[in-house]
Amino acid sequence: MTRQQRNILVTSALPYANGPIHLGHLVEYIQTDIWVRFQKMRGHTCYYVCADDAHGTPIMLKAEQEGITPEQLIERVGEEHRRDFADFAIRFDNYYTTHSSENKAIVEAIYLRLRETGHIERRVIRQAFDPEKKMFLPDRYIRGECPKCGAPDQYGDNCEVCGATYDPTELKNPVSAVSGATPIEKESEHYFFKLSDFEDMLREWVKAGHLQPEVANKLEEWFEVGLEDWDISRDAPYFGFEIPDAPGKYFYVWLDAPIGYFASFRHLCDREGIDFDAFLKPGSDAEMYHFIGKDIIRFHGLFWPAVLAGSGFRTPTAIFAHGFLTVNGQKMSKSRGTFIMARTYLDHLDPEYLRYYFAGKLGSGIDDLDLNLEDFQLRVNSDLVGKVVNIASRCAGFIHKRFSGRLGRTTENTALLSAMQAATDSIAQAYEEREYAKAMREIMALADQVNQYIDERKPWVIAKQAGSEDELQAICTTGLNAFKILMTCLKPVLPLMAGKVEAFLNTEPLCWSSIDQLLLEHEISAFKPLMVRVEEKAIHAMLEDSKQTMESAAEKTVSKILTEEPIGDEISYDEFAKVDLRIARILKAEEVEGADKLLRLTLDIGEQRNVFAGIKSAYKPEELEGKLTVMVANLAPRKMRFGLSEGMVLAAGPGGKDLFLLHPDEGAAPGMRVK
Ligand code: 2FM
Ligand code: ZN
Repeated sequence: MTRQQRNILVTSALPYANGPIHLGHLVEYIQTDIWVRFQKMRGHTCYYVCADDAHGTPIMLKAEQEGITPEQLIERVGEEHRRDFADFAIRFDNYYTTHSSENKAIVEAIYLRLRETGHIERRVIRQAFDPEKKMFLPDRYIRGECPKCGAPDQYGDNCEVCGATYDPTELKNPVSAVSGATPIEKESEHYFFKLSDFEDMLREWVKAGHLQPEVANKLEEWFEVGLEDWDISRDAPYFGFEIPDAPGKYFYVWLDAPIGYFASFRHLCDREGIDFDAFLKPGSDAEMYHFIGKDIIRFHGLFWPAVLAGSGFRTPTAIFAHGFLTVNGQKMSKSRGTFIMARTYLDHLDPEYLRYYFAGKLGSGIDDLDLNLEDFQLRVNSDLVGKVVNIASRCAGFIHKRFSGRLGRTTENTALLSAMQAATDSIAQAYEEREYAKAMREIMALADQVNQYIDERKPWVIAKQAGSEDELQAICTTGLNAFKILMTCLKPVLPLMAGKVEAFLNTEPLCWSSIDQLLLEHEISAFKPLMVRVEEKAIHAMLEDSKQTMESAAEKTVSKILTEEPIGDEISYDEFAKVDLRIARILKAEEVEGADKLLRLTLDIGEQRNVFAGIKSAYKPEELEGKLTVMVANLAPRKMRFGLSEGMVLAAGPGGKDLFLLHPDEGAAPGMRVK
């Protein structure tokens, strides 16, 4: 069957240049990389570009905190990102930065075109301003008391306790998270992109099938509410590109970020002589796809196509959104060690385990994807090591020992091989549709058939029979040809292992069109282990390491008003309300024989409680007796080596001498509930 050659441009969302890549990010890069590798293996021209998202307030402030320039920060983080991606075998055709001359030129050209055609409007708006730092404050940099429920230390736009949303100006006792000063309100002129000018175009575009159904529905909801103009400017100080003819005004990072896709592509085109315009002009027959997380649909599904249509570019062929990653069924958690950085994973485990596991779970929808670490170990070991690699190791030994590494003249079970070849069409279709889980299931079903064939033919028995040389060689030749088909199908997911297999089978790079070519009378190379089993202890070590990495990262990023530890996972108000905190009087404090860190406290909360507290490094027992403190009174009792602990006292600080028990003000009485 001849297929039409396609020209395809593919992007993944640009990671911010202020922090490391973690496993949550990798869902998208692995998903995209598999798709791109598949397209290339089909013989299409496919370019995969990406970049660091280098602009905006958080990057400016982080550089300042570290005492370096934003340019130095984005340079360093850019290097780290490139290394992490390369080590996960994410193969970009170009990885760039949005802080580039190419991006500046395209952003300006797009803006000027939108301005000329009347899609930009200027308006004065009032915003929170930090009078000390002399900067306007994005909502997330204002903290204060919720205007609805009074909860302290809430963000400028929504309350995490009662869920209310509001305007930052409504917050009570607001403070700037940058300087601690009380923000004032100040006016400033902003530049708006008139999104509503594109409503008809967008409605048409959404109907035309460029989006997944769930995403199209979301857009319909936004149309119902009405399209608001989009504020595309920010005032100095800001790290970004200055707006032409508007000194002190900068393009909002979310305007120049997606344009960064084009800038990265431009950089590639200039380097390799590719025709940029042929891909990006309206009516181009090249395809353009953006892989993104479901949290940034608004930017890619609304603003981006409108900006493109308004500035004389083609619009995307499709936007492919995906869900978020959970680990062991829960949001990634710093304290559980499941907030795993790419580098921490790589220090302990093979990147292709994760590529395979994600592939086994990915479909074309926007559902979240769970990395269950037990299942991860089982699945990789049973599928890749137990089924796929096993085929090669069962056949290769005989070919080497008995036939000097030479495959036979014929295969014996041609029905099996032709059925496998035929099945690759459906596998290809599943890849094309991003139904990787389906593709993996189909590939593993084929692997089962091959193993079954080998089990039935028992080459290890045949090898012992005199005069059965041809038969043995034909069985192993069949097994290895089947293995070649399986590895071709797995190559988009396991490119590193496929590389080793190409060396072992002594073949040209495996690709879709070589699936039908059998290796006969062909010399293969020595068989080296292709993949080892996932060890449980490596997973544990990774989790431990992850906890520690998070702790030391948190220490490094202590900011003026944030605490030394990262803020924990969000809990609901109801979960919090379950914790019964009581004022307790310390009646007695004593050392515990055989315990280095513990003091035994006898507490009065209206009834007596025995509590073991790990505070010996910071307190002498006699200092504590008679004092008031706060305890968790409804914690399930815990049996310890030294006795039963019936609650917990609250202390802050990193440990050692720096541990501080909480003491309530005078007037509090034992047994009072802390609210
Ligand atoms: O949400 C994010 O992490 C953004 N840095 C993604 C930008 S994608 C594109 F628009 F550039
Ligand atoms: Zn509230």
